[in-house]
Amino acid sequence: MSEQTAVTIRTNSAADVFSEKQIELLGILKYGEFKRINILQGAVSSGKTYISLVLWAFWVAVSPHKEGYLMIGKTITTLKRNALCELERIVGADNFTFSCSQKEAWLFGKMIFLEGANDAKAETKIRGISLHGAYCDEVSLFPEDIFSMLTTRMRVGNAKIFATTNPDNPNHWLMKKYLEPAADGYDKVFSMSFTIEDNTFLQPQYVADMKSMHTGVFYERFILGRWVAAEGLIYGGFKQSQIVENPPKILNYSAGIDYGQSNATVFLLVGEGADGRLYILSEYYHSGRASQASKSPLTYAKDFISWIMSYFETRGLEPCLGGIYYSRGYLKALANASQKESNLCI
Ligand SMILES: Nc1ncnc2c1ncn2[C@@H]1O[C@H](COP(=O)(O)OP(=O)(O)OP(=O)(O)O)[C@@H](O)[C@H]1O
Ligand SMILES: [Mg+2]
Repeated sequence: MSEQTAVTIRTNSAADVFSEKQIELLGILKYGEFKRINILQGAVSSGKTYISLVLWAFWVAVSPHKEGYLMIGKTITTLKRNALCELERIVGADNFTFSCSQKEAWLFGKMIFLEGANDAKAETKIRGISLHGAYCDEVSLFPEDIFSMLTTRMRVGNAKIFATTNPDNPNHWLMKKYLEPAADGYDKVFSMSFTIEDNTFLQPQYVADMKSMHTGVFYERFILGRWVAAEGLIYGGFKQSQIVENPPKILNYSAGIDYGQSNATVFLLVGEGADGRLYILSEYYHSGRASQASKSPLTYAKDFISWIMSYFETRGLEPCLGGIYYSRGYLKALANASQKESNLCI
């Protein structure tokens, strides 16, 4: 009797080749649901560039127009590093060739202009062209006027922009003018947000390393893909979740002063909570330079008193401070002002 061998022939399903989010995007392409501006945003290494290039390749391949396409990065060099080489790997060198010196590429026989958004002549060049499609790599790094001009170059009804970006400041122009309106239902912009976990093709060790390398704001941005503020941030470990609405009972108070004349003057009121933690309870900030209105030391002293009095008065507490540290020369003015103008006990 001959032995029978079961042979299983396994074909790749979409789930073997793409992550869940990437499959969702392919569905949106298939059903023609992409909008005029399409932005994939979020964590590092989350698979945005990979799938955006697949979408772009499909889009260009089936488009009836022979030319009128643009791929643009912060500079031509970053475009090459992030997108052009990856696109060549994805579709093969037979289907995609490019020349950074000539600033042109050919994808499935269609001609594509290449440009760097920060390059000196980019604006003049973009102003003069009509486009059917544009691919933008790391769009939050573009000057706003370049991107906004690009949107006016998409002259054909069905023209589309495909863009990727990592998160930036929540007040960034891309968030304010495009992503927030998209979240509110604006029908010209599509956006999808990614976290690092969305890329199931990464080695678990790499994901673990990336997570352990980032803390605070940078963890929120680069791992979770959130648009959180980082400008002027000194304590990288600070998290939005550390802001509490109702601190516990405060046992001791002290206030610190960082005095500046044209630089900012800052007062901070710190409380030692019943739970043994320190809480910043109130902040006063004035920058002579930024506001173009400098204040004299005496005015700051008065501000200090009214700032601290109002904190305690609005809570029905007795203002009695100990352990206040002043910057040099400021103690005297403050003490004089406080003796004259309040019953503040220092
Ligand atoms: N479907 C996939 N199949 C194979 N490899 C993939 C797939 N999706 C992503 N990758 C790989 O995962 C890595 C990260 O993906 P990608 O560059 O697209 O991330 P990204 O979100 O653009 O990251 P960054 O924000 O850092 O630019 C790359 O090496 C990419 O080739
Ligand atoms: Mg990328």
